[in-house]
Amino acid sequence: MNHLDEIRARINIEDLVGGYVQLKKAGRNLKGLCPFHNDTRPSFMVSPEKGIGYCFACNTGGDIFKFIQLVEKVDFPGAVRILADRAGVRLPEFKPEVHNEKLRILKANEAATDFFADHLKNSKKGMAYFTGRGLTEATIKEFKLGLAPDSYTALSDHLQKADFDEKLLLDAGLISQRTIADKNTYDRFRNRYTFPIHDQQGNAVGFGGRIIGSGEPKYLNSPDTPVYNKSFVLYGLPLAKDAIKKEDLAIFVEGYMDVIAAHQAGTKNVVATSGTALTAPQLKLIKRYTRNIAFAFDADSAGAEATKRAIELAQEAELNIRIIQIPEGKDPDECIQKNPEAWKEAVKKAVKVMDFYFAHAFLLYDSKDLEGKKAILNMLLPLIKQTSTSMEQNEHLKRLAYELKTDAKYLWEDLKKFKIQDFRFKNSPREPAEGAAPKKEVFSREEFLLGFILEQPELYEIVQANLIDIAGFDPATEKIYKTIKRVYNSRSVIDIAELRAELSDQECERLNILPLLIEEYYPDFSQEAAKKEVMTLIRQINRKNVHASQKEFEFKIRAAQDPGERTLLLNQYSQILKLTSKI
Ligand code: UTP
Ligand code: MN
Repeated sequence: MNHLDEIRARINIEDLVGGYVQLKKAGRNLKGLCPFHNDTRPSFMVSPEKGIGYCFACNTGGDIFKFIQLVEKVDFPGAVRILADRAGVRLPEFKPEVHNEKLRILKANEAATDFFADHLKNSKKGMAYFTGRGLTEATIKEFKLGLAPDSYTALSDHLQKADFDEKLLLDAGLISQRTIADKNTYDRFRNRYTFPIHDQQGNAVGFGGRIIGSGEPKYLNSPDTPVYNKSFVLYGLPLAKDAIKKEDLAIFVEGYMDVIAAHQAGTKNVVATSGTALTAPQLKLIKRYTRNIAFAFDADSAGAEATKRAIELAQEAELNIRIIQIPEGKDPDECIQKNPEAWKEAVKKAVKVMDFYFAHAFLLYDSKDLEGKKAILNMLLPLIKQTSTSMEQNEHLKRLAYELKTDAKYLWEDLKKFKIQDFRFKNSPREPAEGAAPKKEVFSREEFLLGFILEQPELYEIVQANLIDIAGFDPATEKIYKTIKRVYNSRSVIDIAELRAELSDQECERLNILPLLIEEYYPDFSQEAAKKEVMTLIRQINRKNVHASQKEFEFKIRAAQDPGERTLLLNQYSQILKLTSKI
């Protein structure tokens, strides 16, 4: 038992919270006035069984450590000290080994950065590649670009000579083992152009490696390591953050080269995600610098889909969003090579979210035929309904009527038909806040489903049997689902401890809160009722995912130029259509 477990074993949540607010029994749980918002009826829920307290009105709380952090306004180590004191647990000394390993990994990455940069400098062909793509030597230096030698051991040999041992290089993701049995290691990045990735303090935490010429994967990225979690890092941030603050705007692009080209062209407030779609933690990171963001994703169907998903995520994060439409070339890098002025104009002329959706809908469907018009309405009316004021709705409807050559009064009637979704779920229109009540976090259907699984793990069998596995799952819960699936498939039960071991702290916090969500919304639920509700959730999620994927394919098929690609897409599309009959 480590000291945290020992503290947990000695202090229970109800006594701890009970010292701050009066708690009354409510079924299996206890309830009291929430200490974190101006509560008028008891909304703070304490679960002795789960060891956590949480308020679903203001979405604040957690286990004993989180509670003390929040109520005493201290950081995690501060909370541990307070609770250790209270529990009479002696804290172990600070563990320098762990800290040291992280520092050593950062040093190894830095040494690798220099090694690759030197190799690039000595390679005529390598330098010609980057200068051929329009980069100056100063830019190459500023971004510390490099070239990994065409060798299985060059980096490893170099770093081991500099006293970084093999285990450290493995942990850093710089070298790999073929299999667990085969102890031989080899350099991960070989014969690739290298783009070091830095965290916001400027530490080298990983690399992207671009293939020379063409092939797969085009970019090979570092795996997650003790110093690198790709969901929490934005490429280019240390070089962009001053400009982001100054301009009060952060521009998100897709690729490494887009960041670099924009930076060189004078647009320095630019970052990219690397090796992942945009994540909520990345948006949280950017919020430290600005609340205004603009997406400049590739000018193809994949870029438009990525934009749609990014908009939803950014709306949840309550950021102000614009969309930059790339006027020439396929991505910002190409546009800047061809016409840097056009890029700058496009940044200035970034459009609002609704303008993007209009453009997207009219590109997707034919506004001249009746079926097309209907599809456009189906796509845009729910989005228009979500906008807050009737005045805005009116503006959008007038424009839509004009473009569809119809009368706005019909559209008002159609608009009424779109039902407001269940208030509990995300992506539903925001209801006007009642009085000064705190804003409720809305949970997604996927999160409710997870809550059920965590509350009653045997329900997972139903999920496993019925949930249709297609890409584009709710990004907030995807990792947790995948982990559950892996754990379940390997041992036929869901072992929560094993899940915890594989998930990040933030995700573990989710594991605590989500089952409580079920107790809050479905108190005294019978096993039968839970099963029914789970089936309903699965059906709704399946329907949403299949339809989204159907739309995506329709869009891709329309956009596909090459007949071969079109046939391939049509084949995949028919698979999706088969699914639609099942839902
Ligand atoms: P793109 O395929 O659009 O490449 O991927 P690009 O940025 O235009 O590359 P260049 O200009 O040909 O060099 C966009 C981004 O997606 C990530 C990378 O971060 C890349 O910059 N990506 C792409 C990967 O992580 N792996 C891949 O295999 C491909
Ligand atoms: Mn590119």
